[in-house]
Amino acid sequence: VTGRSRFNLARDASRAQLKARVAIDGPTGSGKTWTALEWAFVLADDSKPLVIDTEAGSAEWYSDQFPPYRTITWSPPYDPAELAATLREADDQHPVIVIDSLSHFWEGEGGTQDIADAAAQRDSGGNRFAGWKVATPALRHLVDTIHQADAHVIATMRSKMEYVLQEDERTGKKKPVKLGMAPVMRQGVEYEFTLIADMDLEHRFMVTKSRCSEVADVVAQPNRAGDVARQFRTWLDSGEKPIGEADARRLTDAVNAAGGPARKAWRERFNCTPTQLPEGRLAEANEFVAQLEQGPDARPAEATDREAVEGTTDNNQQQPQPATGDGAGSAGVSSQTSAGPSTEDAAAGESAAAGGGAEAGGGAVAPAGPPPAVTARSVGIKAGQVFKADYDAAPRGSKTKVADRLRHALVYACTKGETSSTSDLGAEALLQVWRRLEDIAEGRLTYEHDQDDAKGVTFTSQTGKETTVLWSDLADDDGEAAA
Ligand SMILES: Nc1ncnc2c1ncn2[C@@H]1O[C@H](COP(=O)(O)OP(=O)(O)OP(=O)(O)O)[C@@H](O)[C@H]1O
Ligand SMILES: [Mg+2]
Repeated sequence: VTGRSRFNLARDASRAQLKARVAIDGPTGSGKTWTALEWAFVLADDSKPLVIDTEAGSAEWYSDQFPPYRTITWSPPYDPAELAATLREADDQHPVIVIDSLSHFWEGEGGTQDIADAAAQRDSGGNRFAGWKVATPALRHLVDTIHQADAHVIATMRSKMEYVLQEDERTGKKKPVKLGMAPVMRQGVEYEFTLIADMDLEHRFMVTKSRCSEVADVVAQPNRAGDVARQFRTWLDSGEKPIGEADARRLTDAVNAAGGPARKAWRERFNCTPTQLPEGRLAEANEFVAQLEQGPDARPAEATDREAVEGTTDNNQQQPQPATGDGAGSAGVSSQTSAGPSTEDAAAGESAAAGGGAEAGGGAVAPAGPPPAVTARSVGIKAGQVFKADYDAAPRGSKTKVADRLRHALVYACTKGETSSTSDLGAEALLQVWRRLEDIAEGRLTYEHDQDDAKGVTFTSQTGKETTVLWSDLADDDGEAAA
């Protein structure tokens, strides 16, 4: 009997010096500034934290209630490049840096959004998406600097109430309905932090994401946020470094795709979510998912529980139900790794088929069953259904082109110009596109398009927000051959 040696996994035992990357979200007055200072002093030992204060000295109101710290009162412009440069210089003198608030570097004067607008005006006559080609790298650089900083970083983010318009069944009138709070920052920024907490107007501190399982989902009553900070600190000091975010997402996708029993097996084996998995167990986890992908019995057709391994992220709780006849059910393995020459082509072909599929009972809704992960393929199929009327209305010879253009434009809009191809999207972004397709199907998002090559499509949300994508914005290779 022979077995594979695992000697290659041997390494020096270490207590890695982990740095905190903490985000505190909340509406104005919820206590972000106060709590950020409280956290800063838990993490700082005896040295002085640095507080970057974009709110005209508001942190200083509390300075008599805390030990001494240094502060920069940051007036506009809120240039992400300047903040990155400041962090790089500050991080070896201050063990803790508070950025209060990071939202200003997104939507404040001279912030990321302004950079996008200015670049659009300057370089391409107001095409906003072209502006993002300049602004996105600037923000990316800031986020990378935060990641690499040799200091603990605590960032606050303002959150705003999000609304949708919903029709009142009795009166037929539309009225705004609260969806919940959303941080003012680029979507997806939550992946960059090891702990995210939301604060409410009662000054409660609610951990919504944590890579430290001890404080995951903790709700701290007013003035108890410091306790969470101390627990978090103990965890940081223990040096049980979790795996990287990319690995965590890959594992999450693989386990989710394999269904309920696989998730249960994961929990029994690892006793934490993939984001909390210690680095030392990555090899073991890789082996675990490799087996899932091979073993037919490990990937059951029917998942029994809808709860996902990464139970704290909202997308898993509300996995949409891909509507399709065939394919999507079995395509739920993992969008990025699913086999086949090109998922995008498959999706495109499928969308055309769904578009023209009157005789196939086009638009048939999927049989009830567990929702598989949203894949490039299922998004393509859904797009085919959502844009079916446009496909039908288009002249012979350009039906596919019209449906493809609309799908590509929607992806382009959802990713703020990063890509127009569903095959480039990760699980989160696919879900975003999926939700917007549902919005279109249910009338919450409308669009008008002109097939003239010099024109494009404008999507309009219920709040009247317009997003225009020109056909010329879409990369050449997106214009898949017309049927
Ligand atoms: N944990 C807490 N318990 C009780 N009161 C608190 C707590 N934290 C903050 N407060 C009080 O709430 C008020 C607002 O706090 P803070 O300035 O930190 O809010 P903020 O979220 O930073 O607001 P803004 O977005 O306007 O900057 C202050 O009066 C502060 O003393
Ligand atoms: Mg504040």
